[in-house]
Amino acid sequence: MVSVVKDQAFVTLATNDVYCQGALVLCQSLRHHKTTRQIVALFTPQVSSNMRRALERLFDEVVEVNVLDSGDSAHLALLSRPELGVTFTKIHCWCLTQYSKCVFMDADTLVCNNIDDLFEREELSAAPDPGWPDCFNSGVFVYRPSLETYNQLLKFATENGSFDGGDQGLLNSFFSDWSTADIYKHLPFIYNLSAIAIYSYLPAFKQFGSSLKVFHFLGPTKPWHHKYDAQTKGVIQENMSPSDSLFIDFLNLWWDIYATCIWPLLVEYKAADTKMIEYQMPEAGDLQVKMRRQEETVAHEKPIKPAEILETQGHPQSTEKREKITAGPSMSSKRETEMMPSDTPGPSISPPHQEDVAASFADLSLEVEPTQSEKERRRWEEGNADYLGKDAFVNIQRKLDRFLK
Ligand code: UDP
Ligand code: GLC
Ligand code: MN
Repeated sequence: MVSVVKDQAFVTLATNDVYCQGALVLCQSLRHHKTTRQIVALFTPQVSSNMRRALERLFDEVVEVNVLDSGDSAHLALLSRPELGVTFTKIHCWCLTQYSKCVFMDADTLVCNNIDDLFEREELSAAPDPGWPDCFNSGVFVYRPSLETYNQLLKFATENGSFDGGDQGLLNSFFSDWSTADIYKHLPFIYNLSAIAIYSYLPAFKQFGSSLKVFHFLGPTKPWHHKYDAQTKGVIQENMSPSDSLFIDFLNLWWDIYATCIWPLLVEYKAADTKMIEYQMPEAGDLQVKMRRQEETVAHEKPIKPAEILETQGHPQSTEKREKITAGPSMSSKRETEMMPSDTPGPSISPPHQEDVAASFADLSLEVEPTQSEKERRRWEEGNADYLGKDAFVNIQRKLDRFLK
């Protein structure tokens, strides 16, 4: 019998219902490859309550954390990913001190082979980033939870920011000797292989890809942005860019897990309710499902910047939510003990009618991210204008001048 390791965990993060779907697929893929470690999801208040219940069903532990946002639109613009400021929330993973060692994994990663051997590595172990290999990619990394490190990271973020506006820039500056100090902290690329690497070095992928452990859907287009045909059990390739079709097998694998294991779970928990999903009954009798971005319907919580947390730490009289951050920090957790017999790995979900449900929807798609200007407008409305960057007075003045001319 395989014995379960209780004090080590895989950890992921989702700040909204859309990324939760990726988190659920990742969790299921870890179970499928029979991990003996715990699987934990960090989620933020924007995640709907039904989706939380779905997370609780599949994960061993789910932990609520507050959104941390770099608010650094200037650097995020360089990355062309304005939405990634919230990835600062990732650093909450250092607060999971009930575990002695963890592996963080982005919600857009997919496990293709057992990766429990990662726990033999030390903090901070990660694979090179395909765009700048002297930096590590922060989609998969081994770390040791520690409140001390968490506080140091917050302080570092406040004082130095992040050169990419997201967690990867921050973590690379913080663990700055990663590229030179210890080769054992360089994970082989097969533990975090991203789409971009396939088309930038196809022969290497052909040579080494067969031992792949983790595929990372890095970049703005995620598996949930594609359309899936449940009849042919494949992602629809029409209009797909030639580079995307190079990793069609991984997209299909993701969708296969989603369609057979996650979709039925979401239906059961009404996490796929009409707020997110529109049903249409076409003549053919197929059920078409169209997902909407959850952010359009779920109220926004104001994100917190690292500096505000540090400030709060010096003021114990401040709000309950912020006190939570300092005291644990900012976490409330639920364990699904009934799902996890103490001596066996967590079960894979296999809901009763999964085949029927999978076969009954023909075309499942999610709308793409809101536009950058929409996001900026929302930030502005929430009082989070980027006064030092894009919304700096001089830029506004320039715009007004242009308009008046
Ligand atoms: N994430 C999230 N909500 C967001 C954006 C990101 O929860 O709106 C989390 C999620 O775990 C995601 C990770 O942060 O996988 C990093 O973002 P992403 O994977 O989109 O970045 P990429 O790997 O494409 O650079
Ligand atoms: C990278 C990583 C992702 C990180 C983002 C922002 O592309 O894949 O995990 O959140 O950069 O720093
Ligand atoms: Mn990612």
